[in-house]
Amino acid sequence: MESLKQKLAALEAEISNIVITDAAALEAYRIKFLGTKGLVKDAFAAMKDVAPADKKDAGQLLNAFKQFAEAHYENNKQVQSGGGKQGNQLDFSLPGLQFQPGTRHPLKVTENEIVNIFSKIGFTVAEGPEIEDDWHNFTSLNMPADHTARDMQDTFYVAQNPDWILRTHTSSTQARVLEEGNLPVRVICPGRVYRNETISARAHCFFHQTEGLYIDKKVSFADLKQTLYYFVKEMFGSNTKVRFRPSYFPFTEPSAEMDISCTVCGGKGCNLCKHTGWVEILGCGMVHPDLLRNFNIDPEVYSGFAFGMGVERITQIKYQVNDLRLYSQNDIRFLKQFTSIQQ
Ligand code: DAH
Repeated sequence: MESLKQKLAALEAEISNIVITDAAALEAYRIKFLGTKGLVKDAFAAMKDVAPADKKDAGQLLNAFKQFAEAHYENNKQVQSGGGKQGNQLDFSLPGLQFQPGTRHPLKVTENEIVNIFSKIGFTVAEGPEIEDDWHNFTSLNMPADHTARDMQDTFYVAQNPDWILRTHTSSTQARVLEEGNLPVRVICPGRVYRNETISARAHCFFHQTEGLYIDKKVSFADLKQTLYYFVKEMFGSNTKVRFRPSYFPFTEPSAEMDISCTVCGGKGCNLCKHTGWVEILGCGMVHPDLLRNFNIDPEVYSGFAFGMGVERITQIKYQVNDLRLYSQNDIRFLKQFTSIQQ
């Protein structure tokens, strides 16, 4: 038993001293130690001379030796395959393997930013389904079946049921929130919307909007202006100017569209603002009394404002993306440009 111990120790010392520099040396090592007539096998043959009482210990010693010899082979094999022709000369100056984490999509970055800004002044997020029914997307929002405003929004219908559509705007979430009947309401509703448009640099069949709705007692147009003014300063910087133009939406009265001073040229005139110095960013207005009545809310007691903005539009203005198709092409060269602005 003692002699077996000494023999194995000597062999381990020998193995430790073997420096393997190329594939041929690796193979020579394998044959000498691990081959069918190799020294490991040979060592195991000594078992027959071991006294029965020592067999268990001897077996453990031999197995440990075998693992040692195999580990030397495996370690060197990895070095050989990684080292190419240069053998086991590792280049420790090479940069490490980089783990590349994914990045948020620019539209999500913008959406998160919008939500964060409004959550600071007490808005909470509400979401609704993308497959909607006529009532929530149109009728309850003051757009009955024959309303001309429906033509503005080329609707996708779900084949199985003519009452089902892909929502054309996030205003449908307003209807969902109002029918829950909890007042006051102060929500921000982000989501994807669909319209049957030919895809081009300036239009897409799906895009994203964020809707806002605020209903309480004594809410006025001044509150609307102040809220949106705050949003613009947070989103585009404190030097940004805003202006409101009268407009028309069936669900608000009065209605307005809001422009901001061009973030690229500062108002002097450029391609983004089509040389007007202003870019439109959202539609808004005071919630129409008829809409409140549709949800059993008394317009004599409650009033409110709503607004809706395009997330692509805000992203385009903020990061100067001039082709809508870029958002859905998954081109890594485009997406990578947003790695540093994680929200
Ligand atoms: N839903 C409108 C659209 O898709 C945007 C909008 C305008 C939403 C005015 C509103 C609003 O809530 O008050 O064009």
